[in-house]
Amino acid sequence: MAVFHMILGWTAQALMFVLFLLFLAFLGYCLYLKHLHMKYDHIPGPPRNSVTFVFCFLSHTLCFSVHSFLGGIVHDKFLEWSETYGPVCRINFLHFVMVFVSCPEATKEILMSSKYPKDAFLHKRLFNLFGQRFLGNGLVTAKDHELWYKQRRIMDPKYNNLYLRGLMGTFNERAEKLMTSLSDLAEQKKEANMLQLVNSVTLDVIAKVAFGVDLDLLNNSSTFPRAIEMCLKGMVHNLRDTFFALNPKNRPFVNEVRESCRLLRTTGAKWIQDRKTAMQNGDEVPKDILTQIIKSAGKEESMTQEDEDLMLDNFVTFFIAGQETTANQLAFCIMELARHPDILEKVTKEVDDVIGMKQEISYDDLGQLIYLSQVLKETLRIYPTAPGTSRELRQDIVVDGIHVPAGAIGIFSSYTCGRMDKFFKDPLKFDPDRFHPDAPKPYYCYYPFALGPRSCLGQNFAQMEAKVVMAKLLQRFDFTLVPGQSYDLLDTGTLRPKSGVVCSVRYRDHKK
Ligand code: HEM
Repeated sequence: MAVFHMILGWTAQALMFVLFLLFLAFLGYCLYLKHLHMKYDHIPGPPRNSVTFVFCFLSHTLCFSVHSFLGGIVHDKFLEWSETYGPVCRINFLHFVMVFVSCPEATKEILMSSKYPKDAFLHKRLFNLFGQRFLGNGLVTAKDHELWYKQRRIMDPKYNNLYLRGLMGTFNERAEKLMTSLSDLAEQKKEANMLQLVNSVTLDVIAKVAFGVDLDLLNNSSTFPRAIEMCLKGMVHNLRDTFFALNPKNRPFVNEVRESCRLLRTTGAKWIQDRKTAMQNGDEVPKDILTQIIKSAGKEESMTQEDEDLMLDNFVTFFIAGQETTANQLAFCIMELARHPDILEKVTKEVDDVIGMKQEISYDDLGQLIYLSQVLKETLRIYPTAPGTSRELRQDIVVDGIHVPAGAIGIFSSYTCGRMDKFFKDPLKFDPDRFHPDAPKPYYCYYPFALGPRSCLGQNFAQMEAKVVMAKLLQRFDFTLVPGQSYDLLDTGTLRPKSGVVCSVRYRDHKK
């Protein structure tokens, strides 16, 4: 009995000691938060929720969570705050301090320089999704400059003009399949979910040109679209809600996200292995992204596990970055054209003048579709499908006269700047003439493909693909939005039209 009491006493003491340590750690954390607040609170920003201590501790996290829960776009919150607090606005997120920057000069200085790497906050949350490796150290997420530069140097030349010209065949062929599907829908007088359809095309294109694989999603079903969608949704929760995975209610969702990551990575491993075998057998293999990914990983004899992982990181990166953003841009573009018959008429006339009844659109034709380029640029102003980027501000910097001490995370949003009256008059008006070749170029307030060394590798690829799809669509079909749809956006990290852009399509009457 005495021994029992002694053990009980020790256990109680040990428990007290652990609680004391936890209390000390918590106190230390609170003091650290206080220090951060003192260091950065001179920067204007929304008041922190301070109804209770817990709310104060969570800072603006709660505000984001409530806003997202109500279906809001986080970038709308940034827009509201930028308009209220000015070109540099402080946001607290637990012990992270973020400064939201909408000052063109600072945007130029930070994004155009390689001194400011991608931030650890974002990197950590995209490296793994709920414990399953996702984008890892691939091109979008690589934080270490050397590691990133090594990959970019190998990938970049793949996007020269000669290479892009060579893709026109695939762009035409896959867009033609979409036209066949639209013809079927037009004949059967069925509605067309444009987002779903263009998503199949862009996924088909990236699988074909990057990895040499024929998915033919307009005619076959596949688990990829769902897996990609789950990964994107998982990304948002992982980024914006630190405690998401801890909620037992979210378990089935979290498991499906993990499963989706695994599916993309195991597919990558198989396709990479098939390609390596073909290379070892001396077979002729396409000089595509997959070959570059294998090359960037180094020699087979000295390949480490990290090299293998890096190959899969880039495989997933191209699947995620190289497809959905373009599909969303196309869907938004169709939505805006359907809402603006005058702009639709003008762009259709240009397509008729440049392409006529030709089926095969050439690289040189694309250069002549100037108004269509303006329409696509204006689409990305109001709807930048990859709305923002972030950087680690490792050095002190002055933004619009306000000193920002080193250590904060800089957030930049093309969405916010694109919707600010001070940069674009009447910002919600869809007006492609803002991008007329003679109009003044927006000064560091329009960057849907980001800017500087970490800007989008696939910008030209994406815009060529979008032009081919749009030109063929305008050449052959009239489309109107099925009534009753909202024009709202869905924030899945990337932005997409919530309604899916459901249209009635009919063959164009060329005699008109
Ligand atoms: C409309 C279509 C697209 C938009 C709006 C877009 C936008 C962007 C943006 C904003 C970034 C910077 C991301 C960040 O800083 O976190 C980026 C990076 C990137 N994009 Fe795109 N993208 C598009 C299409 C594509 C396509 C088709 C590909 C591939 C073929 C691609 C490949 C990449 C890659 C590899 C990066 C990382 C670049 C680096 O850090 O070196 N993107 N994109």
